[in-house]
Amino acid sequence: MKYFIGNWKMFGVPKSISILHKINYYYSKDKNRRKYRVIITPPYTLIESYAKYFKKKKIIIGSQNCYQKDQFSSNTAAISPYMIKKVGANYTLVGHSDNRSEGDTNEMLKNKVHFALKNNLKVVFCIGENKKEKKNKKTFSVLKKQLSKVLEKKFNKNNIIVAYEPIWSIGTGKIPSKNELEKTAIYIKKVLKDIFKKSPALLYGGSVDGNNVEMFKKIREIDGFLIGGASKSSKKFIDIIKNYYR
Ligand code: 13P
Repeated sequence: MKYFIGNWKMFGVPKSISILHKINYYYSKDKNRRKYRVIITPPYTLIESYAKYFKKKKIIIGSQNCYQKDQFSSNTAAISPYMIKKVGANYTLVGHSDNRSEGDTNEMLKNKVHFALKNNLKVVFCIGENKKEKKNKKTFSVLKKQLSKVLEKKFNKNNIIVAYEPIWSIGTGKIPSKNELEKTAIYIKKVLKDIFKKSPALLYGGSVDGNNVEMFKKIREIDGFLIGGASKSSKKFIDIIKNYYR
């Protein structure tokens, strides 16, 4: 199974659902549709209405984050995995670099993964090195730490997807070379195999568009994409899927 996940970040109001109508139309008619899933993570404010609309349709709605506690608590503005699941989301991102940079620690991320899975949300766990770490050749050690400090053997790997998003590539138009990404993807899957015996699906994220997807699709270890900027346009998002299967 392949995955095309659109992460809207801080974008969208109720009427932005028109973007998803177009994507859903393409998806439901695509002859390749059984080979992949389309998941969109709008902001919290839109999850319930979008999930209701797409309940019997193809697009799956997810959350961009969740709080590290179960059910209810006295943490102002926090949204728990339980609350997210109850309004119809089926996935959640955990550990996006935007949230790591705002203070998410490995311990917090472990709790997020644990409680998300407990509440029947599938987890898209995000990892990635920054520019300085890459320059200092620390990429592999950073990724290994991010994975091994959070993911545990006891977690159900069938409900986890890992998204490799090098921070220097997010929103910059810069992407790793094929050779570089291939080596990194092989390494990540090796670490994941050490934890789970069999590796969960691995996505790439960072400046993915309809042109560069031609290069990414040649990498066997990459099972799909986490798409930021290009997911806010139905045409750009559909182009990625079209060119992937061309
Ligand atoms: P861009 O596709 O805009 O680089 O964003 C990637 C990302 O952070 C998705 O979570």
